[in-house]
Amino acid sequence: MRILGIETSCDETAASIVDDGKTMLSNTVATQIDIHKQFGGVVPEIAARSHIEIFSSVIEQSIKDANTSWDEIDAIAVTNGPGLSGSLLVGTLAARTLALSKNKPLYPVNHVLGHVFANFLVDPQPEFPMLALIVSGGHSQLALFNSPLEYSLLGQTQDDAVGEAFDKVAKIIGLPYPGGPSIEKDAVSGDPNAYQFPKARMPKRDIKVPMAWVDAESTNDEQYTVQGSYDFSFSGLKTAVLRKVQADCGKDYRFPSHQLSELLSVEQRKNFAASFNRLAVETLVDKTMLAYEEFSPKSVVIAGGVAASKELRRQLTEALPIKINYADFSLCTDNAAMIATLGYYYSQQNAPSDPHLVTINPNLKM
Ligand code: KG4
Ligand code: ZN
Repeated sequence: MRILGIETSCDETAASIVDDGKTMLSNTVATQIDIHKQFGGVVPEIAARSHIEIFSSVIEQSIKDANTSWDEIDAIAVTNGPGLSGSLLVGTLAARTLALSKNKPLYPVNHVLGHVFANFLVDPQPEFPMLALIVSGGHSQLALFNSPLEYSLLGQTQDDAVGEAFDKVAKIIGLPYPGGPSIEKDAVSGDPNAYQFPKARMPKRDIKVPMAWVDAESTNDEQYTVQGSYDFSFSGLKTAVLRKVQADCGKDYRFPSHQLSELLSVEQRKNFAASFNRLAVETLVDKTMLAYEEFSPKSVVIAGGVAASKELRRQLTEALPIKINYADFSLCTDNAAMIATLGYYYSQQNAPSDPHLVTINPNLKM
């Protein structure tokens, strides 16, 4: 089954063609990063307008790169949430129009769940039960999957997403948007132990998953219940960095935070980048290891923009006793190949949606 995936939830206009949820024929991504960089973050109105301007050529390019034609495309999958409403509207309306005019089944899918499916473009595909750490600009979640569409959320952030913390800390120390890649670059030549920031301690909660997911012998409908602390919190870490920068610069909260970075030396900036990078990643790895030890999954995957972090891959590879088949870096940040792949699995279990009725949901939950 050949699926055209469409993704416009934030600042990437993307289209991709994937066969049977595993063979990627094309992956076209037009990023708006350079447009938004000058504002230090994504400007929603500009993002929506840019999607409109470039959408048709991205679709055409993707079909051309895949060396295919509309006749050979079996269905369309589109991100309808979560994301920026203006951006989601452009992609969703365009996908509805294409589904009607080309007479193709249409499958709206969840962007965050989509990130996980970038890992199904890797050979061999991950085995189930699978533990997924989903870390992007808008989400930080740990989920246990028993099959592609059968999952249970173990924990999530209670405030900022980890990618958001990277972006905000980058701004504080004077590095360009998006924060993840620029912090990573500076961190390479900084001292990761120069500053000690606190790790958020999250309370334990009752986590329930079907018994059969953790015990293959079990065939009953019993629930496996465990007290676990798999939630995240990153806003305290961001504030701790801000306070330390203020202290190092001899300023307090009355000094405009956007001018602080001008007072930092290059060495200080690199040390802040390296220390924050280490601690943010350590927090993700700690929680992933807790869940790994509790649920003994057959595979672990990381997904979302922050999954492109080399430090995350390094620390996780060191901590886990099993091998991770990481997805290519280009499949971690927003793309449509992951949407086409999720669309395939979704289509195996669900009827297509009526194109007239597909709406966006900017707050769509997993
Ligand atoms: O998944 P994504 O492209 O968009 C959302 O759905 O949010 O993730 C973007 C986020 C940004 O916050 C960016 O700073 C972060 O991913 N990111 C990274 C790295 N590359 C991108 N964070 C840490 N290290 C990286 N190498
Ligand atoms: Zn994303």
